[in-house]
Amino acid sequence: MLNDERTIIPRQGILDIPVYVGGKTGSELLGDTIKLSANENPFGPSGKARKVFVRSQENLSVYPDGNHFALRSAIAEVFGIDLKQIICGAGSDEIIHFLCQCYAGKGDEVIHTSHGFAMYRISALTVGATPVAVPEDNRCADIGRILQACNGKTKLIFLANPNNPTGTLVDEEQLKKLVDGIPEHTLLVLDGAYAEYIEKFDGGIGLVERKNNVFITRTFSKIHGLGSLRVGWGYGPEFVIEALNRVKGPFNISSVGQAVATAAINDLEYVQKCQKENFILREQLASDLKKINILSDKSFANFLLLRFSTYDLAELASQFLYKNGVIVRNVGNYGLENCLRVTIGTSGNCERVLANLTKFQEINNAL
Ligand SMILES: Cc1ncc(COP(=O)(O)O)c(C=O)c1O
Repeated sequence: MLNDERTIIPRQGILDIPVYVGGKTGSELLGDTIKLSANENPFGPSGKARKVFVRSQENLSVYPDGNHFALRSAIAEVFGIDLKQIICGAGSDEIIHFLCQCYAGKGDEVIHTSHGFAMYRISALTVGATPVAVPEDNRCADIGRILQACNGKTKLIFLANPNNPTGTLVDEEQLKKLVDGIPEHTLLVLDGAYAEYIEKFDGGIGLVERKNNVFITRTFSKIHGLGSLRVGWGYGPEFVIEALNRVKGPFNISSVGQAVATAAINDLEYVQKCQKENFILREQLASDLKKINILSDKSFANFLLLRFSTYDLAELASQFLYKNGVIVRNVGNYGLENCLRVTIGTSGNCERVLANLTKFQEINNAL
């Protein structure tokens, strides 16, 4: 660099956007360290998806299908929905961003819950819109407050259901109240990144069919075990998809990503197996931790949000786990300073979490 004089200045507000802080990454994974900080599937992708991945090296010189036809067709078939109402993105993050680009700008408001997924706020700020954090009720989305926060400027409402990082769920009755109560000019986005972790849960697909201002997002990064390939999708009214397609890059998902995701979505048996395993391990871990005085809300996802009595104790617990080869997620940036988010890993991973936290509690005499 010649000197540090900055003559190229970003648009106003860009440097005020908080940089997304993710779970600690693989570079720190030495020896038998386990990463339980990013809600990944500990079993990885299905065998069928892995096989397609190995085969898909054959056509690397050819641009991918920009319309994602095979992938959208597979999604449409599995969920019994219309292909024309589906869009695919480089992770559901990209779909969230498309929605902000198309529907929000300067002077518009984008609602999210106070402990909602960080990218809602970041994407809203990126397009110059104003994010509005609506307080939750004991870490659960408060539908009454969300409705009160809506006004003429509200363009988007993002609600993850189940929510990350709390793991809590808005039930059907409350969702119906929300859908029926929002203004017609507001698009409600139900983020179903963890929807597959709930048995027989449609994640809002039925609501998209009933109302013209509901949209859902889904991802291949969680239960399908494909975080590294960056594939997600959205489903909503055709006129919304038409708008989103205007801002989508021509080749936003690699052919490898599309082919592997297509195999993954078709492997219903594998998804069901992971869902069942997660349920058993999550309930067991939550109940074992409760016995050592570490509480968590009922989780509907593939993680637990553990509560400690103070910020210091949460921080000490995180450091203790880290020293013993278990990486979890500090969620202070979500306003949950006294909490740690722990992904449900394999049964061996859960045993290690329990053994280490038991030791931690003994040291701190909290038992
Ligand atoms: C609630 C929620 N939505 C969306 C995403 C983004 O997922 P991806 O971009 O990998 O599809 C995540 C990732 O952690 C999430 O927790």
